Amino acid sequence: SEARARLAEFFVSLAPRSLDKVLFFSGGGEAVDFAIKLARGYTRKRKIISAYGGYHGHTGLALAAGDIKYKKYFLPLAPGFIQVPFGDLEYLSKTIDNDTAAVIFETIPATYGIYIPPKDFFKKVKSLCEKYGALLIIDEIQTGLGRTGKLWGIQNFDVVPDIMVVGKGLSGGIYPMAAACFKSKYESVFKKEPFLHVSTFGGSELGCIVALEVLKISSSTEFLENVNYIAKIFADGFNQLKNDFSNYITEIRQLGLMMGVKFKNELWGPLMSKACFDEGLLCVYSNNDKSVLQVLPPLILQEDQAREIILRLRKAIERASDRRYQLKVISSFVKAQMKNQIDYFKSLF
Ligand SMILES: Cc1ncc(COP(=O)(O)O)c(C=O)c1O
Repeated sequence: SEARARLAEFFVSLAPRSLDKVLFFSGGGEAVDFAIKLARGYTRKRKIISAYGGYHGHTGLALAAGDIKYKKYFLPLAPGFIQVPFGDLEYLSKTIDNDTAAVIFETIPATYGIYIPPKDFFKKVKSLCEKYGALLIIDEIQTGLGRTGKLWGIQNFDVVPDIMVVGKGLSGGIYPMAAACFKSKYESVFKKEPFLHVSTFGGSELGCIVALEVLKISSSTEFLENVNYIAKIFADGFNQLKNDFSNYITEIRQLGLMMGVKFKNELWGPLMSKACFDEGLLCVYSNNDKSVLQVLPPLILQEDQAREIILRLRKAIERASDRRYQLKVISSFVKAQMKNQIDYFKSLF
């Protein structure tokens, strides 16, 4: 369709250099599945390496690349998936081999606690991939579209992946829409059989029209400048909070408006999510590292709103540090978990 072609043209004009082909999907999981299929199809290798605690969606291959927590109920999964600790290059270098089709990582694993890797991490991962003829797939579903202060999160790490996956906000979070862009030489996979990956609703007409507008806005200097300006306000605010609550906060993790606050233990994530909720803030904890509270505000935030959020975060921490409040939240959290467990065991009878 014309709308799809227009979007594709604009998308690749903004994508990291040499990623000049793009395909659209109805969701992030499907786009990740496609990326993995493309890597296996092109390299004719089997192994897919991903990170423990990572999250790439709940569909077939994306699920297999994710954390054990979400897949243990659905065994057997697609074979060939191996996981490594995110950020551990030595471990990765011992795992990757000539049968590796791809390494897939989120630029900053959100569900694993907004873990921001060192600046040279992805360059080193890419050279390991090159050494073994594997492709580097970067999942930008959370970090893309300006979240980190650059259009693509991976631009902060001076490296061009082989395949990049984008989703969520691409259609303003409304129309089902995700994308995978890749180097044109991988297209050879489809030359013999063009129907190797088709998707009835992938690249829906309306979604494409919306995504084109979203991309225009997200790539504008004004928009990205605002993200960086607001990020600075948060950085100052977090600094203050960390000083004032050093008993509870152990680390601030931030790249642009991709932000996480690490607390002293894994009870604090759920505790803070509830306290934030009571203060009118929606901040979920990272499900694969519950000591981290995710702070992921809209990118169109204005200064007064940012200051208001910081103020409410302060109130939420004060609230969460009250002993009685802690006991109340923890007991309802434990009760809910126990109920889930009991229901699960009952379902086995
Ligand atoms: C990093 C990442 N990858 C993949 C996905 C899956 O996207 P979708 O829910 O659109 O399938 C998500 C969704 O939360 C995500 O955060």
